[in-house]
Amino acid sequence: MSRQPLDNEHRVTVPDLVAAKHAGRRITMLTAYDHPTALLLDEAGVDCLLVGDSLGMVVQGQPDALGVTVDQMIYHGRMVARAAKRALVIVDMPFLSYQVNDDEAVRNAGRILQETGAHAVKLEGGRRNVPAIRRMVDAGIPVMGHVGLTPQSVRRLGGFKVQRDADGLLADAKAVEEAGVFGVVVECVPAELGKRVTQAVGVPTIGIGAGAACDGQVLVINDLLGLEQTVKPRFVKQQADLAGIIRSAAQRYVEEVRDGRYPGPDHVFH
Ligand code: KIV
Repeated sequence: MSRQPLDNEHRVTVPDLVAAKHAGRRITMLTAYDHPTALLLDEAGVDCLLVGDSLGMVVQGQPDALGVTVDQMIYHGRMVARAAKRALVIVDMPFLSYQVNDDEAVRNAGRILQETGAHAVKLEGGRRNVPAIRRMVDAGIPVMGHVGLTPQSVRRLGGFKVQRDADGLLADAKAVEEAGVFGVVVECVPAELGKRVTQAVGVPTIGIGAGAACDGQVLVINDLLGLEQTVKPRFVKQQADLAGIIRSAAQRYVEEVRDGRYPGPDHVFH
């Protein structure tokens, strides 16, 4: 008997994600950048862990992701891949790792898979990436696309803004599907447009600020957990206040050390 896509017993695979779209099963994805977080998200049943180049902002404290390097993605990708028992691990290709020429794109994507143990790579952009995606897919590398708001182009786009060019978005999504991606992230578009793209392509769409009709959803883990102190996108539903928990735990520690309550008289070593 064939198994259900995304069951709890098996490692999530690339074909499972496509099967999930056709079975009407929603796909869950969160970003992860380190081993302990990835362990927890994997245990919680998240289908895909994305080692996003958003780490430039939420881990490194930079204003955007443009400074992130392939070596840094490999460093974080390794920690996440080591933790994931069930989830499919996807690593972002950072700025300039696939745009210069197609040979470099294949080499960098191959390095990321070989050196991290991750299962797939993701890259931003639509029609212009078709040759690079074809070469990677021909080399056996599973590629996820990313259309709509593409943060690596933030300076050309003039900021992190909602993308409303319906014809351009549909053309980009269809072009990357045709080139061989197994799924596509759709970022920051009106919900109606998220729905049109989802209906127009045969591979799963994973939305972030793209409405409820997408085949799956992805969020930056720091936004979900309430760790992000600077910008909070409007579409995020925060599920916890880790910033508050960490701040008050650290304040209690500071007070207890200062007033001598920690370590107390019942010190463990005698
Ligand atoms: O870098 C990232 O975290 C991403 C998600 C926002 C989809 O690309």
